[in-house]
Amino acid sequence: MNTAILENGVKTRKFDSKNGLFGEYGGMYVPPVLEGKLKNLAAFFEQTKHQPDFEEEYVHYLKTFVGRPSPLYYAHNLSEKVGSKIYLKREDLNHTGSHKINNCIGQILLAKRMGATEIVAETGAGQHGVATATAAALFGIKCKVFMGATDAERQKMNVSRMKLLGAELVLTHEGRATLKDAVDAALGYYIENPDVYYLLGSQVGPHPYPTMVGYFQSVIGKEAKKQILEVEGRLPDHIFACIGGGSNAIGLFSEFLYDDDVAIHAAEGGGEGAIFGKTAATLSMGKPGVFQGTFSYALSNESGDVYPTYSIAAGLDYPGVSPQHALLKDVGRADYHLVTDAEAIEAYKLLSRLEGIIPAIESSHAIALAAKMMKGKKNEISVINLSGRGDKDVERDLM
Ligand SMILES: Cc1ncc(COP(=O)(O)O)c(C=O)c1O
Repeated sequence: MNTAILENGVKTRKFDSKNGLFGEYGGMYVPPVLEGKLKNLAAFFEQTKHQPDFEEEYVHYLKTFVGRPSPLYYAHNLSEKVGSKIYLKREDLNHTGSHKINNCIGQILLAKRMGATEIVAETGAGQHGVATATAAALFGIKCKVFMGATDAERQKMNVSRMKLLGAELVLTHEGRATLKDAVDAALGYYIENPDVYYLLGSQVGPHPYPTMVGYFQSVIGKEAKKQILEVEGRLPDHIFACIGGGSNAIGLFSEFLYDDDVAIHAAEGGGEGAIFGKTAATLSMGKPGVFQGTFSYALSNESGDVYPTYSIAAGLDYPGVSPQHALLKDVGRADYHLVTDAEAIEAYKLLSRLEGIIPAIESSHAIALAAKMMKGKKNEISVINLSGRGDKDVERDLM
């Protein structure tokens, strides 16, 4: 077993923040033209993140614009049904409807300080696109969002929202026209336009993005820990999140990584099951390799080419994953499960009817996993990260 984060108990982690390394994972695998720009961004982030006026501004917008802290809600009907005590961390109640806005506010404040005049972003489910377009509107910065044509079709409401917010939407028709293709297009634009700031929305891509996105999302876990201690007087036994690139999951998990008694579980977009081409369960079925600028797990074949992916959830439909989650998997600190479309749809309906909360289809994967794993564990407490609301999925008639 790779014991990188378990040396000296669990207190030492092999995390080299300067180079963005999580054990052997992470790093910056990019063409030379991008390297200088990313190194500059990494240095700027490191020197800015703890500056009091930066922190003050970040916290101010999280509180007054996003609506933080998000509540920790005791889901009593779901708890009764599952036979275990379940809390939901309500990221769905954030302005714009998901966790994505936490990272967008942090990064746009950096971009503003760096003097960026244009923001570019990729989006899958449209939630990151909407959050970026929102942040760009707030600060009066021009915004361009790349989205796969398949995703634009299945997340129509978010397409309209981005346009209304004043963003320019660029559809890509490459590959399966999903998140991977949107990231490729956004990276291409970033390389060609030196003055643009690339506001990446998940814990993927080259350094410093996994470090930065993890940092800006860590507010989720910090709040959740405080809230559960207030209400239960102890830590949860289990925490759950869905995982596409890994940002909402690391946002919740990072605060609990060194609490040995808290079991950590993540739900991947399993699509139709464990079949290459019909799944997006990268950590369950993939292997280590370099993909889109970082060394992590990827759903790739022997020659390193990535398989097409499929998940009903556009936000999980991606063949790569965060390098930090790759390390957490290898050292056994978190476990990663394939959750199928059918299981996610069941959970989507279940939470809607039991609690009056319509979850995003991405988040429904976490609910499905928790409902399965916690069945009958009556003395145990769980926190599920409800990463987003399901308004965007209602039109799809997933019933
Ligand atoms: C509501 C919601 N949850 C989860 C995700 C998955 O992304 P991540 O793994 O970065 O949290 C997305 C991505 O679009 C999303 O919109």
